Amino acid sequence: MFVTRSVSDLVADSEGEGEKLRRSIGPVALTALGVGAIIGTGIFVVIGEGAKLAGPSLFIAFIIAAVTCAFSALSYAELASSVPVSGSAYTFSYATLGELVAFIIGWDLILEYGVSVAAVAVGWGGNVNEFLKATFGFVLPDAISKSPSEGGVFNIPAVFIVLLISVLLTLGTRESARLNAIMVVIKILILLFFIVVAFTSFHSGNFEPFAPEGFGGIASAAGVIFFAYIGFDAVTTASEESKNPSRDLPIAIIGSLVISTVLYVLVAVAAVGVAPVDTLSGSDAPLAAALNEGAGIPWAGGLLAAGALIAITSVVLVIMYGQTRIFFAMCRDGLLPRRLAKVHPRYGTPARLTLGFGVLIAILAALVPLDEIVKLVNIGTLFAFVLVNVGVIVLRRTRPDMPRPFRVPGVPVIPIIGILLCGYLIAQLPWETWLRFVVWLVIGLIIYFGYSIRHSRVRLGEKADAPSVEKA
Ligand code: ALA
Repeated sequence: MFVTRSVSDLVADSEGEGEKLRRSIGPVALTALGVGAIIGTGIFVVIGEGAKLAGPSLFIAFIIAAVTCAFSALSYAELASSVPVSGSAYTFSYATLGELVAFIIGWDLILEYGVSVAAVAVGWGGNVNEFLKATFGFVLPDAISKSPSEGGVFNIPAVFIVLLISVLLTLGTRESARLNAIMVVIKILILLFFIVVAFTSFHSGNFEPFAPEGFGGIASAAGVIFFAYIGFDAVTTASEESKNPSRDLPIAIIGSLVISTVLYVLVAVAAVGVAPVDTLSGSDAPLAAALNEGAGIPWAGGLLAAGALIAITSVVLVIMYGQTRIFFAMCRDGLLPRRLAKVHPRYGTPARLTLGFGVLIAILAALVPLDEIVKLVNIGTLFAFVLVNVGVIVLRRTRPDMPRPFRVPGVPVIPIIGILLCGYLIAQLPWETWLRFVVWLVIGLIIYFGYSIRHSRVRLGEKADAPSVEKA
């Protein structure tokens, strides 16, 4: 249960044929991948919930969440640079904390990535309606655009976007990365547009009273708004497809986090400045509403909704990509059925896995609402961050000699602060969220002890190169 995989073994494994991914992504595309995963439903939709909890001091919640991420981002960067194989925190923990912890983390990441894609896709569907309303004056009927718990039957727009992206991801990583880069540029421009327009109708009176619920409100908002930053870790899932992972992964992880933080804090200040907090918290498309009602520019609402659609599309693209790569790594290790991990000979992508997941996530997206899922995804992600920080400390002791192209400064203090900050945000989430998370983990443990423990390749004593062809 506590067996670990050696780093060289993991790297060798990623070089095996038949299960090998193509190296096609450079540093800029990698940073774009991070920004692509980060900026989406969080800033365009969940910001409303943050405004409700924190009031005008919303931007402080964004700063707290960003600082929490920053500490863990350093740990991610160190591990990603020294264990440059697909699978993110799952793979790192396999090398550091043993198989059981690795499985738990992988299972946890399936929650983070899989379920969040479904939630994010639902946010996409909501923005389709906002766009149609602002541009053509009609909306899709609830029956085909909402989940059952929101009075609908089946959320068709959410299903559509998930399936579309699955097909794109199956066809090829390079093509998807290029499309992602275009979407990233567009969403940055849209947020800049928002900031500029909002600052031209800025009312400083909107900031009174600054923190109606005190610091407690700000902290709760940080626990929710954390969702907006999720995704920088998705960069690490692309290790095997990165041209120079040791150098480029840290650049991309930290770069994408910095870019999003600057944009988010400006957006949060601008949003409160242009529209009263009630406008933000009472809307499904808060930024569009802010310009619409606060600045009195109705066409801006349509533009913002269109921007949100593009932004969220790239989140679906990157997070779903990350999801398949983590699952891929778990299958390759035998913890989940290995035949799923087959790479398509022509497209060079795990086609079966990508399409299979697409269908599962689409079903989920058709049926689930957004709000509670956000908190569930947050707790799963924060938990993964904790383990990544622990991984850095453990690996420094157990493998002091391992090459670390990027090193976290001040170990163990910095990772420990990272752990404490994650714990603090977890503590802000309601107990129902904790409970759901525990149920999810229990299901995972049943799978581990029922299946994985008997099929694990490390346990079966298989060498990394056993299933693949030896290279010249
Ligand atoms: N950070 C991602 C978003 O905001 C998950 O949509």
